Amino acid sequence: MISEARWLAVTTITLTTLSAAISISISAYIFNRKCNALKSKIHELELSLKSCSDNCASERQGRIRAQQMLRKQLTQPKSENLNLTYYPMIPIGTIHSCFSTRNGTPRQPLLVPLARACLVFNTSRVPPASLEGLAEYSHCWIIYVFHLNTNLEKLWKHPSQSGFKAKVRVPRLKGGKIGVFGTRSPHRPCPIGLTVAKVEAVQGNMILLSGVDLVDGTPVLDVKPYLPYCDSIQEAAVPNWLMEDNLLSVASVSFSEEFISSLESCWITAEKKSLYASPGEFQSLVMQVLSWDIRSLSQRNRPRDAIRKKEKGQLLCDTSDVDDEHLGETAIVHEREQNSLNSMEVVYHLILEGLDVSYRIDHDGNVIVEKVSTSAVLDNKLDSYNYLTWKDKLQ
Ligand SMILES: *[C@@H]1O[C@H](CO)[C@@H](O)[C@H](O)[C@H]1NC(C)=O
Ligand SMILES: *[C@@H]1O[C@H](CO)[C@@H](O)[C@H](O)[C@H]1NC(C)=O
Repeated sequence: MISEARWLAVTTITLTTLSAAISISISAYIFNRKCNALKSKIHELELSLKSCSDNCASERQGRIRAQQMLRKQLTQPKSENLNLTYYPMIPIGTIHSCFSTRNGTPRQPLLVPLARACLVFNTSRVPPASLEGLAEYSHCWIIYVFHLNTNLEKLWKHPSQSGFKAKVRVPRLKGGKIGVFGTRSPHRPCPIGLTVAKVEAVQGNMILLSGVDLVDGTPVLDVKPYLPYCDSIQEAAVPNWLMEDNLLSVASVSFSEEFISSLESCWITAEKKSLYASPGEFQSLVMQVLSWDIRSLSQRNRPRDAIRKKEKGQLLCDTSDVDDEHLGETAIVHEREQNSLNSMEVVYHLILEGLDVSYRIDHDGNVIVEKVSTSAVLDNKLDSYNYLTWKDKLQ
């Protein structure tokens, strides 16, 4: 009995165990199936994710490749003669300056504090909101194009034909030559200029600048604020030839009676186009401009040529477009020869604000401003950029 009972018990236990085992295996089977289903789902998802990211990556690569190709296309030679590279750099504005011609335009910025210019931005390229915040700086950098360089068209030629000169004559060295990158000469392989000016006021799409060394009509590529804490270097060194001065400043500037009266009468026409408030302010500008010897090296050395022009009935010493760079070696020799010549015979002209200012300079470097008359430049000047536009902001 006992053994039967035990057998029963054993059987029961075995059956229980068996059924538990079966149920475990069934659960395990279900679990495994679920697992496999999940695994394959995960695999599916992984595959689809991979294909998505592959697509993304290849799209991105395609995009990068397209951009690279475009850039390559754009920077590929456009002419067989010249490997030209194109970048999206187009002037964004134009300078309306008191310096109507290159002659008289200061050689460096801030030398003539009263030198004013209105920088007018092209609103289709630069919305006026771009100027927000600029008025809070006292000065700004201006990057511009030397658009009046007489050798500009040569720069389109192949370097072997452009006749580009590595060295330029420097006014302070009386014609001594320096490598172009050792100077700020306008005649550079890339005719880009950099200057700094005082920000007087900002209004709409215009900036009123002062201390400018920019000629009227200069195309502007960019404007950036001047940051004294990193843009000004106290211990910066310059070559000795820049230290020896006096060569370029004059002894004195005086005005004749005729100048005062001729200015009064010119002012009636000039006023509405001028960035200056009064004849007196304009006279101060003339004073500041002429306190530097603005004559080109050749004019300083060869007043005789100017006199020859007079004989032919031309304008006396038309100084507007003489290039120091184009001066021959002979000019230096002439300097000694013409010491006997009375330099007071030569009348020089300076066109400021469309007004033609004539002056003489004696042997001791004293400038006598003789008179002023209206010039053809004045007729072409617009009256949208005048003192009245800025009056309220200047006071
Ligand atoms: C233009 O560039 C290519 C490759 O950079 C060069 O082989 C070729 O001589 C260049 N042509 C001229 C005219 O400079
Ligand atoms: C201003 O920019 C537009 C667009 O580039 C150009 O068509 C137009 O000639 C520019 N205007 C001036 C005055 O430069």
